[in-house]
Amino acid sequence: MKVGVVGLGAMGAGIAQLCVEAGLETVGREVTAELGEKARGRIEHFLTRKVEKGQIEAFDIGLLSLTTEVADLADCDVVIEAIVEEPAAKQALFVELERVCRADAVLATNTSALSVTEIASATSSPQRIVGMHFFNPAPLMPLVEIVRAELTEDAAFDAAFALGEQLGKHPIRCHDTPGFVVNRVLIPLLNDCVRVLDEARVSPEDLDAGMQHGAGWPMGPCTLLDLVGIDVHLHASEALYDKLREPRMAAPPRLVAMRNAGLLGRKSGRGFYSYDKT
Ligand code: 3HC
Repeated sequence: MKVGVVGLGAMGAGIAQLCVEAGLETVGREVTAELGEKARGRIEHFLTRKVEKGQIEAFDIGLLSLTTEVADLADCDVVIEAIVEEPAAKQALFVELERVCRADAVLATNTSALSVTEIASATSSPQRIVGMHFFNPAPLMPLVEIVRAELTEDAAFDAAFALGEQLGKHPIRCHDTPGFVVNRVLIPLLNDCVRVLDEARVSPEDLDAGMQHGAGWPMGPCTLLDLVGIDVHLHASEALYDKLREPRMAAPPRLVAMRNAGLLGRKSGRGFYSYDKT
C-alpha cells in the first residue's frame, strides 16, 4: 500500500505521520522543497518523542519521500488531499490527480466543510473520490469521518474506511452534508462560545476554565480555536453559513477582526493567547 499526501501543513503532516507510523510507504507533496523538509522534521520530532516515551518501538522515516511534483504520486493506491480550503484550488488538484494517478487509485479530500461532491464534480471519475476528514491534531485525535459523496462508489468508500482503520483511527461513515457530522455541531458551538465572551463579559481564560471544568472539554474553546487556527475555523464557519443560513453559523465579528489583524492562533504566535513560535 502506498499513500500520497498532498499539502504538508499541520493536517497533511499529521496524516503523513500516521502513514509512516503505520509502516506505509508515503509520498508527501508540498509546493516547495523547504516546506516539505519542515514537515519531515516535524514528523521525525513527534515520532522520536513517541519512541522515547515507549509508545512505539521504532519508525522508519525512510518510508516518507518528498516531492514538489504531483506526477510523483502516479503509483499511489490512495492519495489524501490536505491543501487550502479553496474549492477552485481543490478542483484543479483533483483534475491533475485524476490525470496522473492509476485509474483504480482512490482520491480523498480532507476538507473540513466544503462539499466533496462539488470538488469531485470537476473530474470525470467522481466514483473514486471520497472524503477522509481528520481532526486536529491528526496524530492525536482518534476520529476520521469517511464521507460518501453523491457519486462515490462502494469500492472507494470501503478502501478509505479500511485505510482509516489501518492508520489506527476510529472511522465513522457519513454523507456529504454541510460540516458532515462533527463540524456541523462543533462550528456553531464554538461560535456560541466566542459570542459568550462578549455577552457574559468573561475572559478567554475563564471561559476556557468554565468549559473544561464545567463541561468536561479536554481543552477550552479559545485554546481550541487557537489550535485549529482562527482563519481555518472562519473558513469552515462561512462555508456552513453559506449552505445552511443558520445565524449560529455566521462568523462572529470578534473572530473576523482577529483574522484581519493576523491573530490566527498558535501558527501566527498570537490568537486569544500568545505563543512562543520557536
Ligand atoms: N503530532 C504529534 N504529536 C503531537 C502533536 C502533533 N500534531 N501535537 C502534540 N503532540 C504530542 C505532544 O508534543 C505531547 O508529547 P510530549 O510528551 O513529547 O510533549 C503529546 O502529543 C501529548 O500532548 P498533550 O500532553 O498536549 O496531550 P493531551 O493529553 O493534553 O491531549 C489533545 C491533547 C488530544 C489535543 C486534547 O487536548 C484534545 O483532545 N483537545 C481537543 C482537540 C479537538 O477538539 N480537536 C478537534 C478540532 S476541530 C477539527 O479539527 C475539525 C477541523 O475540520 C477544523
